[in-house]
Amino acid sequence: MRTVIAAAVSVVLALPSANAVAQSGDAERGERLFNQQCKICHTLNKDGANLIGPNLFGMFGRKAGAAKGFAASDAMTKSGIVWDDKTLGEYLKDPKGRVPGAKMVYAGLKRQEQLDDVIAYLKKATQ
Ligand code: HEC
Repeated sequence: MRTVIAAAVSVVLALPSANAVAQSGDAERGERLFNQQCKICHTLNKDGANLIGPNLFGMFGRKAGAAKGFAASDAMTKSGIVWDDKTLGEYLKDPKGRVPGAKMVYAGLKRQEQLDDVIAYLKKATQ
């Protein structure tokens, strides 16, 4: 299962994406990106299921690793992170580098506009 997911994720990451001018995040583009790259592991709705990763409803302003009913890693719960635009941007850019030892198998979003877009969407969809 793990290998299948990792393979699916790397295929997605290898797809070319449109060159957009950097600007503040576009929630609609962020939604497409979330559906392609994150939805396989995360739900966003209130009381949504924990999948491979935790449900993300209410995450803004909350401590890392505190999603209800999800067994977060020690690395995540002890990271001291509180989720906001800045910490989320740092984490999603380089999950393994920002929280070494955490269990999210995801390479990271390297382009600033993709980060901005997905954060704009998460903000809308998780509160
Ligand atoms: C292959 C599955 C997988 C994919 C793909 C994935 N995640 Fe995760 N994510 C996880 C897991 C597992 C954790 C829990 C990490 C831990 O506790 O160490 C996590 C944790 C998180 C957290 C921290 C949650 C909290 O309550 O502290 C956020 C935010 C997050 N992911 C967002 C995203 C976004 C946005 C994407 C897409 C850009 C994404 N993830 C892609 C599995 C995944």
